[in-house]
Amino acid sequence: MKFFIDTANLAEIKEANDLGILDGVTTNPSLMAKEGITGQENIIQHYIDICNIVDGPVSAEVIATDFEGIVREGEYLASLHKNIVVKVPMIPEGVKAIKYFTSKGIKTNCTLIFSAGQALVAAKAGATYISPFLGRLDDISTNGLDLIAQIRGIYDNYTFDTEILAASVRHPMHIIHCAEIGADVATVPLKAIKALFNHPLTDSGLAQFLADHAKGN
Ligand code: E4P
Repeated sequence: MKFFIDTANLAEIKEANDLGILDGVTTNPSLMAKEGITGQENIIQHYIDICNIVDGPVSAEVIATDFEGIVREGEYLASLHKNIVVKVPMIPEGVKAIKYFTSKGIKTNCTLIFSAGQALVAAKAGATYISPFLGRLDDISTNGLDLIAQIRGIYDNYTFDTEILAASVRHPMHIIHCAEIGADVATVPLKAIKALFNHPLTDSGLAQFLADHAKGN
């Protein structure tokens, strides 16, 4: 399973990249706003800065919601860097645009997926990735992991190339369960990635090894 980091914070992206296990980055307009990145010029420069840190797919989300606008914005975003993936909302105009981008060889991430039907439609349009938001489903008392498993089954039935990019991942057990189900990618906040490294027996075991080594030296 590939690991993407789900943030627009450059320091966190660098830290995750330095861990040596990062495969890509996802952003969205809320994450950009959280970092205080506003205005078209700053937003564009920020995508370029992210691409200069991580050598992997970087999702950049369109703001337009009409077909022509999505195509115009997406083509511009894709022209910024070879690693940009155009993130498009799961709406009919968005799906039409994904079909167009696919025909032009532009990679896409269909975002705001909350049902298997939406995942099926996006795959038929040729989306490179689809982003089911598992945490937001959990938030409304619906099991987000069940959706990931359902989509995995459907895609495997028809050998769709579309990758399942589990999004809205909130904690380390989400990551583990996504890996068990066979999600292709999980996009995760830095805190949850770092939590995977920890175990108290590792800490106490290492402390003991170092103490024993020190006794003999
Ligand atoms: C990533 O592509 C999504 O936009 C993101 O994971 C949403 O996460 P949230 O539900 O924690 O806002």
